[in-house]
Amino acid sequence: EKGNYAHYMQKEIFEQPIAVAQTLQSYVRPFEGEVALPTGDLDLATVGRVTIVACGTSFYAGMVAKYWIEQFARVPVDIDVASEFRYRQPVLEPGGLALFISQSGETADTLAALRHARSEQQRIAVVVNVPTSSMAREADLLLPTYAGPEIGVASTKAFTCQLAVLAALSANLARAKGRLSREEEQEIVQHLQEAPAALNAALGHDDDIASMAHLIAPARDVLYLGRGPDYPLALEGALKLKEISYIHAEGYAAGEMKHGPIALIDEAVPVIVLAPSGPLFEKTVSNMQEVRARGGKIVLISDAKGLEDAGEGCIATIEMPEVHPLIAPLVYAVPVQLLAYHVAVTKGTDVDQPRNLAKSVTVE
Ligand code: M6R
Repeated sequence: EKGNYAHYMQKEIFEQPIAVAQTLQSYVRPFEGEVALPTGDLDLATVGRVTIVACGTSFYAGMVAKYWIEQFARVPVDIDVASEFRYRQPVLEPGGLALFISQSGETADTLAALRHARSEQQRIAVVVNVPTSSMAREADLLLPTYAGPEIGVASTKAFTCQLAVLAALSANLARAKGRLSREEEQEIVQHLQEAPAALNAALGHDDDIASMAHLIAPARDVLYLGRGPDYPLALEGALKLKEISYIHAEGYAAGEMKHGPIALIDEAVPVIVLAPSGPLFEKTVSNMQEVRARGGKIVLISDAKGLEDAGEGCIATIEMPEVHPLIAPLVYAVPVQLLAYHVAVTKGTDVDQPRNLAKSVTVE
């Protein structure tokens, strides 16, 4: 079943261009230049607040969606991990949209949070990869990802497919709210349609990433930095590395470094910086320089332009295709997944079945 791949995780990483293309097929009409969600009776124009709840990697997809929904639709978004949300007595105005994101659709905390939101008169939208799951059955608005079965415990293709659906949802909400012109919608659709090819181009750097894994494998701690919608990718990169290589890793918003974590910097702590060209590039790079000035060893992930501007003096660089900032979070998922994968392989850990973890967390 793994075909030519050594692990399910590796296979699933490489399936992303197709998985994302398949998922987008259900949510965009490329010829019309329109996003098209099966919203049914749910009138998105009446949504005044969105509450996003999820766990783990799905939570990080939700964090990206918060940036998008607020930017495009100008609708306020709350976000929480399910285990906190369900016990913190959140204030929920009746009629709000509660959005649950889950690969399995069975995560106990997320399901309990969904039921709580229902009891508080929220309208329930779910993004799930298993269309027969409990969450799918309990949704008012079901937005499936079409990633196909994900076997590796570390979530990969489900994540990028979640992002594809969430980008389409953000645009659809923006349109319903009168915040999106025809041209803007066409552009979003065009950028989303570029995602599969860009994912392919990112995967083309697999060998480079494999050959630098030995730089990270001996580390005890690794930091990941990003800004804006790429900040959740820093968190996701750190989670992937922790899960399968058992190296302690943390993701930070790049601008937070000087508020504490920079104290950790020395040459034994590699710092992975995610900095696609775009409006936040300069800011992220200046945080990176602060780290370097303190002896930090940097791995910079950027496009050719970004690497030319800022790649000098890094211990390694990973080149990504130049993409629109909207799809950067999908594309930059690839190098952090591959890096975690190759570091784990270098260390000889069990990639598909890491210790202490289950694919689906159905107990609280
Ligand atoms: O099935 P779900 O998306 O609800 O699962 C949530 C988390 O348990 C999951 O994302 C977990 O963090 C993964 N092992 C991440 O790789």
